[in-house]
Amino acid sequence: MKIELSENRVLFKNGSSSQEIHPFWLRERVTNEEYFDNNTQQRKFDPTFLKTDVEIKNAKINNDFLEINFNDGVNFKLEINKIIQEFSKDDLLIQSIKKEKWDSNFNNIEKYNYSQSMFESKEMYELLINFYKYGFVIIKDVPTNDNFIVKFANSIGSIRRTNFGEFFNVKSVPNPNDLAYTSLPLAPHTDNPYRNPVPCIQLLHCITNEVSGGFSTLVDGYTVTEDLKKEFKDYYDILTKVKVKFKFIDKDVVLEGWSELIKLDENKEFKQVKFSPRLDFVPILEKSELDLYYKARNKISSMYNSNKYRIEFKLIPGDILMMDNYRLLHGRTEFDTNEGSRFLQGAYIDFDSTEGKLRHLKRKFNF
Ligand SMILES: [Fe+2]
Repeated sequence: MKIELSENRVLFKNGSSSQEIHPFWLRERVTNEEYFDNNTQQRKFDPTFLKTDVEIKNAKINNDFLEINFNDGVNFKLEINKIIQEFSKDDLLIQSIKKEKWDSNFNNIEKYNYSQSMFESKEMYELLINFYKYGFVIIKDVPTNDNFIVKFANSIGSIRRTNFGEFFNVKSVPNPNDLAYTSLPLAPHTDNPYRNPVPCIQLLHCITNEVSGGFSTLVDGYTVTEDLKKEFKDYYDILTKVKVKFKFIDKDVVLEGWSELIKLDENKEFKQVKFSPRLDFVPILEKSELDLYYKARNKISSMYNSNKYRIEFKLIPGDILMMDNYRLLHGRTEFDTNEGSRFLQGAYIDFDSTEGKLRHLKRKFNF
């Protein structure tokens, strides 16, 4: 990849392809002190107030810099590497982390020891890479003070408050507003599918766990949907097409969100799974279409619930399970409250927290 000039036109060359860079694209990137604040890396001018037909009067390449005089009187120097970086899409940091599919044979749970300084460390960078690779990590030896989860979440990014509060207590209570707050087993599900946007990442902090049951369960929704696509294409197709309504009601709020059970991105690749069959409502469709939809939902449910895909482990006091609520399904096995207490605190953060932290650490350590 390189930059070449041809009669005051700036060309971006990549192998045999050549593309002219729009003069305005370059003009917007003027970094002279008069036009650009180096500290915030923000423009001091509003490019939407400029005429877009700006022309290059003169351009030359001087070592590693492109020097341009525009016809509106602005002259500037731009590092050629910076232009190439924008074309090479190197900034697509998250997309460049390849998701590793896993099933019940997975025995490589990434664990990290908590320390106060971990959030600014190289280890944190590695933790976040592995979070994106596998969809979850465990942090051990986190102080079990009440509400510590809030401090932890805010050290990665910003906590995502929901109507359950800034954080929530997962323990068995009388008259719960959600089955999570009982001792019943919870089948694999994703959290808050009715919310817009759905919280991206759940943090679950184990404060006490004295019961013999109450194992945490996880399923990789990415593995399951890729297998479904391979083995039952018609089921995959309908689950990526039909939007269903997810609904949650409480005393002072009614939340509703419409979505497919498998959400794809603009390239038709995996983006998100939603699964919470206690609160999904499919619209009235043609009988034949619903017939296929119900079969497909049963199939994906049996996959999510099968031993083939599920891992089980016990959280011990001080553990934080950090999991991708767009990719993984989580649940727990039943427990007996007569055996002792099981108390976890949970909170959510969004992907902009982890992505922002990851880019910051990449910049800091020059990775
Ligand atoms: Fe949950």
